Amino acid sequence: MKSALIFILLGFCFTQYVTVQAQNPIGLKVSASLRGLLLGAAVVVKYLQPNIDQGQYNSNVVKNYQLIVPGYELKPEHIWLDENVYNFSDADWLLGATPNTTGWVQQNGMQLRGHTLVWAYDMRIPRWLLDREASITPEKAKTLLRNYIYTVVGRYRGKIQWWDVINELISNYNNTRPFYIANSFWYRKLGIDYVKYAYIFAHEADPDAKLYYNDFGIQQGGFKADRVFDLIDWLKSENVPIHGVGIQWHIKVSETVTPGDAHYQTAQRFIDRNLDLMVTELDISIPMVDSHPVDPNDIQRQGLAYRSILDYVLYFAPRTPALLTWGFTDRYSWIPAATNYTQGEALPLDANYQPKPAYWQMQDDLARVLLNGIYRLSPKSQPSTCLGIAGNSTRSAVQLYTGACNQTNQQWNLMWLGDGTYRFSPQSVDSSALNAYNVTASTGTVRIYEWIGSFDQEWVISCQGNATYRIGPRNAWQRVLAVDQTSNIVIMNSTRDERQQWIIH
Ligand code: XIL
Repeated sequence: MKSALIFILLGFCFTQYVTVQAQNPIGLKVSASLRGLLLGAAVVVKYLQPNIDQGQYNSNVVKNYQLIVPGYELKPEHIWLDENVYNFSDADWLLGATPNTTGWVQQNGMQLRGHTLVWAYDMRIPRWLLDREASITPEKAKTLLRNYIYTVVGRYRGKIQWWDVINELISNYNNTRPFYIANSFWYRKLGIDYVKYAYIFAHEADPDAKLYYNDFGIQQGGFKADRVFDLIDWLKSENVPIHGVGIQWHIKVSETVTPGDAHYQTAQRFIDRNLDLMVTELDISIPMVDSHPVDPNDIQRQGLAYRSILDYVLYFAPRTPALLTWGFTDRYSWIPAATNYTQGEALPLDANYQPKPAYWQMQDDLARVLLNGIYRLSPKSQPSTCLGIAGNSTRSAVQLYTGACNQTNQQWNLMWLGDGTYRFSPQSVDSSALNAYNVTASTGTVRIYEWIGSFDQEWVISCQGNATYRIGPRNAWQRVLAVDQTSNIVIMNSTRDERQQWIIH
């Protein structure tokens, strides 16, 4: 009764969470792709080398994410060695050094966020620039800023879809500068206008790139967020090209996020300004003592917190194109050192690359679109028919039946497997399951077969509208279960035709 009530309340596309653990998750990338969300993580370029941790760092990035942001390799302090002297080795390895060459990013079907053109306070401005401050005129400073942005953005023009133009501009402390911005070399030379220049130069260097402002401690509104709103209103009033705001979301596990709260209200205020919004650096720190959580329950709590922030991102879609975490495994995270080892274990994979509750919660939230139960499956192209099995054998063929479909061979026991996929068992032969054959052939076929837990028996389901779903085989998840022109049930490439959509009811 209770679960039926939840089902009704949440509608057909969303389900109540239950944490289930499975050996072999399909990967967050698959589930996020099917939801139209980009999941990303900050990476350290040298760890992507195949010899690091037996390739586990690399393979977990490729398995779970469509988007990366280099954690420091695109920062001025790393790239800008002197006037006209640049270190592009890591960025070139990622993206290719020239317009016609590719790098790891394109070769792995990834996208990349650039972070950051200006990191707005002196500690993060290249030392050589500060050392020469006395001899640099404002005019020279503007030329330096222009040259830097043109050189970096121009080199990767068309390859970096999003840039953090300015990072962490607003100071956490009261001061007399406009918008309470941080003091910095750029401010001292050019005043607040340097912020405008940076966006304008970036836009000139790559007119297609989406230009962001990125900051921390603003997710819940408040004094600092208000200064960011003021800054954005000013930039917009000056017609400066700014397209989005990155909210870093470095938070503690005690911070809770619920629909309608200050986090949601703050996101809405950005969106009301016609800006895209990204969660750019999520990590959720847990209080630690002697390298262990002070409260072991915090690992579960953290899972729910990750889920709640993913829900927030999904709620504001399509204004929220991506969610990125700052790292992805507790093996490599900036949190312990940055907090003097009082906080840690902030990411979804543990230090041995094993999924934590945070990972399972996100997997479940993204992919679990239906509750377990008995369902009929009708192609949207032929809604008065439904899928059934022909015969009682454990290896029966499948076909469409016309009518009310009240027979047990025309109804399916749908089971969430916890790994991002589902099993479909005919009610009349529950020990068997829908099984795909030759999934990569131009036309794959489908029968039932004894349930042996093979990936050919696992299916990804995604919601395409009210009670309408797309069903794909795990081993070829971009393809779909479909009805062909002669009403055979097949696996084919996805075209979003009604023959490829299923009413699950
Ligand atoms: C951090 C990196 O993770 C560290 O390795 C580096 O020492 C300092 O910077 N906000 C940001 C990121 O915008 O650039 C920071 O990254 C984390 C906080």
